[in-house]
Amino acid sequence: MDIEKKVCEIRDNLNKEIESVNNMNDLSNLKIKYLGKKGEITLLTSDMASLSIEMKKEVGRVANELKKEATDIISKIEQEIKEKELNEKLKSEKIDITLPSTKINVGSANILESLIEEIEELFLSMGYDVVEGPEVEKDLYNFELLNLPKGHPARDAQDTFYTFEDSLLLRSQTSPVQIRTMLANKEKTPLRVICPGKTYRRDDDDATHSHQFTQIEGLLVDKNVSLADLKGTFDIVAKKLFGNERETRFRPSFYPFTEPSVELDISCFNCGGKGCNICKGTGWITVGGAGIVHHNVLDNCGYDSNVWSGFAFGFGAERLAMLKYGITDIRTFYTNDLRIKDIFDRKEAE
Ligand code: DAH
Repeated sequence: MDIEKKVCEIRDNLNKEIESVNNMNDLSNLKIKYLGKKGEITLLTSDMASLSIEMKKEVGRVANELKKEATDIISKIEQEIKEKELNEKLKSEKIDITLPSTKINVGSANILESLIEEIEELFLSMGYDVVEGPEVEKDLYNFELLNLPKGHPARDAQDTFYTFEDSLLLRSQTSPVQIRTMLANKEKTPLRVICPGKTYRRDDDDATHSHQFTQIEGLLVDKNVSLADLKGTFDIVAKKLFGNERETRFRPSFYPFTEPSVELDISCFNCGGKGCNICKGTGWITVGGAGIVHHNVLDNCGYDSNVWSGFAFGFGAERLAMLKYGITDIRTFYTNDLRIKDIFDRKEAE
């Protein structure tokens, strides 16, 4: 066949077939078909032995031209396909930053911890120190030096867990930290401390009792301390925790380590004092106990009670948190019910 004619035919076919190439796979098949070892263009020059020198030259020239043409067009198409594929990939992987993200549950501060911190900060601002004491305590500090000698009937109200060693127990109150503070700081009067911490009692657990709970104890030792000082301090705490409109009152009470002793009441934050189910119709809510430090306690710790005086108080941290956050069962604090977090988040957002 006339070589020119053959070349034209191959060129036409190639140009036609290249039209329908869509991807790299199609292109590589096309490349093999025309430029591979047995490709149509390659074969043009495979059988030239019988040709004259003139013809060999002629065939070589046109075949090479066609080969170059085919190589160029194939690499041009290759470039186009690569670009197209890259664009498609970029398009499909595009991150839409306008979409709202999935909310990550980050958790929040523990209710008791954050309440304790709030109280600590308040007392630190009034010049108090925050101190701690051991949870496994000596009977001597938990009871005896607090004016509760062995056999004192008031011990019954605070039955606790004893260790095999008779004189060690799980502290039933944070009041022993008062004793530890006084014994360790005789030269450092006046004293002002608060002590938050875990306490234990041999109670049956129910909505308002737990065998383990948290108290926040306070002690001030100075000269001429009166109930008025205690009232002023309590007033600040009540207003800080439950709002500026809160009123406070003392109710006579009994604790062996204070004389006189009082119950600390705040006007009900729910009904404003009119009477509701939270304050059981009285308009007042009891949040802790307090009093003027008993002279026996001062003397027991080596402070001359004719010179020194003081006030002390104790709050139940869970009770404060239950009132502040509207929690109705003390066990909620210890049962990992995550709804407690929602209650907290909601109240904090208000
Ligand atoms: N320790 C008492 C209790 O657990 C609470 C208390 C009352 C603490 C009067 C005090 C206080 O420091 O003065 O019931």
